[in-house]
Amino acid sequence: MAKEGLEMTEETEHMIEKNVAKEPDSAVCAADSKEMRAVLLTGFGGLNKLKVTKKLMPEPQEGEVKIRVKACGLNFLDLMVRQGNIDNPPKTPLVPGFECSGIVEAMGENTKGFEIGDRVMAFMNYNAWAEVVCTPLDWVYKIPDEMTFPEAAAFCMNFVAAYMMLFEVSNLREGMSVLVHSAGGGVGQAVAQLCSTVPNVTVFGTASPFKHEAIRHSVTYLFDRNVDYVAEVRKISPEGVDIVLDCLCGENTGKGLGLLKPLGTYILYGSSNMVTGETKSFFSLAKSWWQVEKVNPIKLYEENKVMAGFSLLNLLFKQGGCSQVKTTVQKLLSLYSEKKIKPIVDSLWALEEVKEAMQRIHDRGNIGKLILDVEKSPTPLMASDSTETSEAGEEEEEHEGDNDNKERMPFIQ
Ligand SMILES: NC(=O)c1ccc[n+]([C@@H]2O[C@H](COP(=O)([O-])OP(=O)(O)OC[C@H]3O[C@@H](n4cnc5c(N)ncnc54)[C@H](OP(=O)(O)O)[C@@H]3O)[C@@H](O)[C@H]2O)c1
Repeated sequence: MAKEGLEMTEETEHMIEKNVAKEPDSAVCAADSKEMRAVLLTGFGGLNKLKVTKKLMPEPQEGEVKIRVKACGLNFLDLMVRQGNIDNPPKTPLVPGFECSGIVEAMGENTKGFEIGDRVMAFMNYNAWAEVVCTPLDWVYKIPDEMTFPEAAAFCMNFVAAYMMLFEVSNLREGMSVLVHSAGGGVGQAVAQLCSTVPNVTVFGTASPFKHEAIRHSVTYLFDRNVDYVAEVRKISPEGVDIVLDCLCGENTGKGLGLLKPLGTYILYGSSNMVTGETKSFFSLAKSWWQVEKVNPIKLYEENKVMAGFSLLNLLFKQGGCSQVKTTVQKLLSLYSEKKIKPIVDSLWALEEVKEAMQRIHDRGNIGKLILDVEKSPTPLMASDSTETSEAGEEEEEHEGDNDNKERMPFIQ
């Protein structure tokens, strides 16, 4: 792996300051600078654990591509990482982020297939939310000229997960029906679009009511996330559905399995319900675990049902699935070029606005994907008593609740 830009100790910071003594102040952002801006998670917990900091720029090792980042994807999983609400959380401090897009700036040894200047999107095993990243070439994909950088940063995680669940795990075919939760979110909208590439697929979706007008066209039947969706689906399709995609977990596992038609497939791929506030709640974790249906394989056999799990990042980073993922990305890029799919970007945020961006997901406000736009300047904070903005590379201690009475308006694309 790349020698990631370690957060600078006082000593190294001083050395770098000496090295770049003749550079202008804006050197932090300059292409030839040895420093870069990155989002840092200083410890697991609330939004106050995030800050923008300066780090040493990583250099590509053998088999790695160095990317000048333009845009980074912000996923629900990033909230869970921030809270430490994941299995085997890594040590903090760390730079979060699992995907980005940008321009190839350099290559390590043995990196055939890429040239400096290529426009690319990439998966990262953390460290994506920075101005420069290095990642193995197996996780990097060239993007078409017509694809914008925000679109590319919104593409990989959502569409690859949606595609593999629909077409590889559950074999979606003409005339089938699919139930998807959080239908207005990043994965939800990717699922809806991919379902529309197959004739006569019925999509049942749940989402917060304010999103319904915006996403109604993308699903066949849309329900308020608070209603009894099992009863609503049964009213329309008494026999149930062919595929249930469950990112909520808890009691929804039993409900999803119960809704399956014979030979239907239930896939668990997330546990959004475990996030009930800004910090990790052991109560909601225990509740979700307790409510998960204890599945009896004999019952599955008797009822002709399939139960599956899907984790793209485990497939990619722990189980050697890069060639399967690469093949999927190529298929998805063809669908994109044929204008059959298009990532929905909810809003663009500067790195310095990462807390507000995450808050938007906590508030269930997003329709599509949130993007951190590395070149965007923070929007001035709106507050009656102050219009201060956080500076790029700010390093001063942050105090919980500092910005409680100020909010930034996202730049909606
Ligand atoms: N297994 C994999 O490979 C994989 C890959 C990508 C994503 N995922 C999972 O898929 C799910 C969706 O991911 P995403 O990145 O596309 O996010 P997303 O759906 O855009 O997430 C935000 C939306 O989730 C819904 N939501 C449900 N529970 C919530 C809660 N407790 N707090 C806040 N919002 C909640 C809200 O929509 P409504 O209010 O409209 O429901 C919210 O707007 C997540 O569970 C994620 O971990 C899994």
